[in-house]
Amino acid sequence: MNHKTTISDCKIIDLPKIHDTRGNLTYLESFSQIPMEMRRIFWIYDVPGGELRGGHAMKEMNEFIIALSGSFDVLIDDGTHKVTFSLNRSFYGLYVPKLLWRQMINFSTNSVALVIASTEYDENDYILNYADFISVKYETKLYEID
Ligand code: TYD
Repeated sequence: MNHKTTISDCKIIDLPKIHDTRGNLTYLESFSQIPMEMRRIFWIYDVPGGELRGGHAMKEMNEFIIALSGSFDVLIDDGTHKVTFSLNRSFYGLYVPKLLWRQMINFSTNSVALVIASTEYDENDYILNYADFISVKYETKLYEID
């Protein structure tokens, strides 16, 4: 595991926007645009007002998050610093590498969060407890890797 990721490893990446009077089009093609493999896609929608999603770190998974519709904020915490990214257009996204605490908040009505993940789903990849996350970041104890 790379314990050293920081908030500065997160970045907003602009995607191509093909303007068209019939409607605009944006696309995403793996390495040419985002610095990770694309293994899985999921989306979060119908989020009730005030609800939060995420609230965990991933041991190996990197992700790229796009607000396909509406808006929401992504809070990133590297154990030392925190930053909030507001996503509200479908032609850019936020790259979030592994081992950063991430939470999604302030979902607007009818918002859709598209998440492109670098790995297939693995429940053992999650760090669900913030104290465990801090331990991993500061290497104060050995983390069990399955
Ligand atoms: P989870 O990642 O915990 O969502 P959040 O962090 O926003 O609360 O996923 C919620 C549930 O969905 C959990 O039971 C696992 C399941 N899930 C899958 O089965 N496959 C997936 O690709 C994802 C992302 C979640």
